[in-house]
This record gives sequence, structure tokens and C-alpha cells, in this order.
Amino acid sequence: MTKNILILNGSPRHNGNTSRLVEEFTKGAEKAGHKVTAFNIQQMNIHPCLGCLGGGKDPDSPCVQKDDMLKIYPLFEKADILVFATPLYYWTITAQLKMAIDRLFAVQEKTSNYAMPMQHCVMLMAAEGDTDDNFEAVKHYYHALLRHLGWENIKEIYAGGVMKIGDIEGHPALEEAYILGSGI
Ligand SMILES: Cc1cc2nc3c(=O)[nH]c(=O)nc-3n(C[C@H](O)[C@H](O)[C@H](O)COP(=O)(O)O)c2cc1C
Repeated sequence: MTKNILILNGSPRHNGNTSRLVEEFTKGAEKAGHKVTAFNIQQMNIHPCLGCLGGGKDPDSPCVQKDDMLKIYPLFEKADILVFATPLYYWTITAQLKMAIDRLFAVQEKTSNYAMPMQHCVMLMAAEGDTDDNFEAVKHYYHALLRHLGWENIKEIYAGGVMKIGDIEGHPALEEAYILGSGI
């Protein structure tokens, strides 16, 4: 069955290591016949959540801020799979990705019980460090997020040991990302 896959890429380097993971995942998923849409948050006009709790009134435009999140909301609501792609920045996801995730709250505000559309999630991450404990904090965050929203984890790929653009070439995580996409 064809799946709608939404990728939120929080790397500010559009041709960086995270984007290579996204590319390989996308190649695999498209070969398997899925529909993939990837957004690079850095290249969009998206602002942080205002915490106004005033969203959800207009179902087609749930946030009070009218920026490029309006391109993401409809795809988010019909996505079968949500992919978070980000470098590790100070032991967590980038501000770019966090900003987009916070803004998804406006979708929850559409219902009185703050219902969130069901998602099956993937995490794709690049980082300079290459030890298991390097990823502990972000794994904790990712799993807490999914647990609280009732979302399911499909798989996480952590590509450690990559710092400069291009460092990821030849890294086994690229093939892992392709295989993940093609088998999804
Ligand atoms: C501001 C900043 C913070 C970073 N923090 C970490 C970190 O906490 N741990 C780590 O292993 N790498 C850290 N890195 C390295 C990046 O995760 C690494 O360069 C990654 O490959 C960048 O991915 P990109 O090419 O998609 O931008 C940091 C890089 C920057 C610029």
C-alpha cells in the first residue's frame, strides 16, 4: 500500500550529513512506491510557538501564525509516517526541528481533548560524536515525545562520527536509511 511520508529536516546545512540520510531514505521509499514530501525547515519561513493557546479555530489553518507551517499542516494530518531528520546539536535536536514540532500543537487544539493524529515515526540523525551515550539525551526526548503523543517508533538511525559536510559518505547509516525507506 502506498504510504504518505512526511519528512521534517531540521538541519541548517541543506547538503549536509542529515540531508544525505534523508536522500537515501527517500530513494528507498520512492522505489517502494511511497509518496515522500521532505521539508527543510531552515529554508522556510517558520516562527516559534507563541504559547497563546489560541489555535485550532480554523481547521484548515489551525495556528494563529500564518507562515510556512501552513504548507506542513495538511501533509502532517494525512501522513502515515512522520520522519524527524536532524543533526545532534548540544545533545538534542536542532532548534529548527523543535520549532516545527512545537507548532504541531495547533493541530491538537482543533479538538477539545487535544487529540493528535496517529503517527508512525522515524528518527534520522547525524552527529560528530560516535559513542552510545552521545545519543542518550535525544533518545530519551524522542521516546518521551512518542509515548506522550501515542505515536509509534518505526526505527531510529544515528550516524555518529560525522562532522563536516560529506563525512557521511561511505557510512553504513546511508545504506541503513535506504533499506529502511525501501522496506517501510
Ligand atoms: C551548534 C552545533 C552543536 C553541535 N552539537 C553536537 C553535539 O552535542 N554532539 C555531537 O556529537 N555533535 C554535535 N555537533 C556536530 C553535528 O551534529 C555534526 O556536524 C553533524 O554531522 C551535522 O549535520 P549536518 O551536516 O546535517 O548539518 C554540533 C554542531 C553544531 C554546529
